Amino acid sequence: MTINGYTRTCGLIGNPVEHTMSPAIHNTLAEALSENLVYVPFHVPDGKLREAVEGAFALNLLGCNVTVPYKSQVIPFLKEIDPLAEKIGAVNTLVRVQDGFKGYNTDMPGLLQAMREDGVRLEGEKVLILGAGGAARAVAMLLSEQGASQIIILNRTVEKAKELAREVNAASGRQLARAMALADYPFLPGGEKYLAVQTTNLGMFPRVEEAVIEDRTFYEKIHTGYDLIFNPSRTKFVSLVEESGGRAFNGLKMLLYQGVIAYELWTGAKVGVELAEKAYRQMRSAMGPEA
Ligand code: ATR
Repeated sequence: MTINGYTRTCGLIGNPVEHTMSPAIHNTLAEALSENLVYVPFHVPDGKLREAVEGAFALNLLGCNVTVPYKSQVIPFLKEIDPLAEKIGAVNTLVRVQDGFKGYNTDMPGLLQAMREDGVRLEGEKVLILGAGGAARAVAMLLSEQGASQIIILNRTVEKAKELAREVNAASGRQLARAMALADYPFLPGGEKYLAVQTTNLGMFPRVEEAVIEDRTFYEKIHTGYDLIFNPSRTKFVSLVEESGGRAFNGLKMLLYQGVIAYELWTGAKVGVELAEKAYRQMRSAMGPEA
């Protein structure tokens, strides 16, 4: 592409940002759609988030993604926030509006789109969430919106799971979620099969041999496993689910679709299936042979 005086810039705000796959997604989309737009990573040091957001606006950036550790911290610096992002309590996409940026969460719509494509349904499902951090919170809110029938949150620190269950029940207005200590998984009701969403960072590169639960009897209760981790593409959790006869997916498609949806918000473009697949291939090749 040619960068000229009309080129618009989007970027990623985070710390670190060096391993991001987002430039591969957005620059592929921009090129394929003949949009005069570039996407670049911005490493924002600790304590400089406000300056980064104000600076991005002053420099006429069209939009930004926001990643670890700033997804919640960025909220006070926004002019507006989308209701879903507010409910989740995390923003990963900034869209330029009149006097600043409006914050969105495209991670959960991205996960939903990925699940739909993979044939994973949520309505009426009994779901186990492994973990109770920021990612688990977002997943739990998505599940409550999408009509899951039961959510069991399993976490090493049971207090955090209890707090999250309380929040989900308050937001949904029903007794949808309950908490369990991770170590209590043998007491899950027998005879049930669950969709399990793995939200902890256990098993992420380079600690690829780890999974939050390693006992195979647990995996016999899982009909479908969804790991939010995408590196490695085949996590220990994914292997354990598949070895017990379940279907399993990693976080690569969620990563793709959070980007696609952000791109659509910035540009108003509609990204079709073929183009999304092209961006997916580009993203995977940017990850190297592992993906
Ligand atoms: P994120 O925003 O990605 O969800 P987080 O908020 O730091 O990250 O949450 C990390 C999650 O992984 C937590 O649920 C954490 O469990 P605790 O609440 O008990 O800390 C879980 N986690 C991290 N390391 C773990 C480990 N070694 N064993 C079990 N759970 C672990």
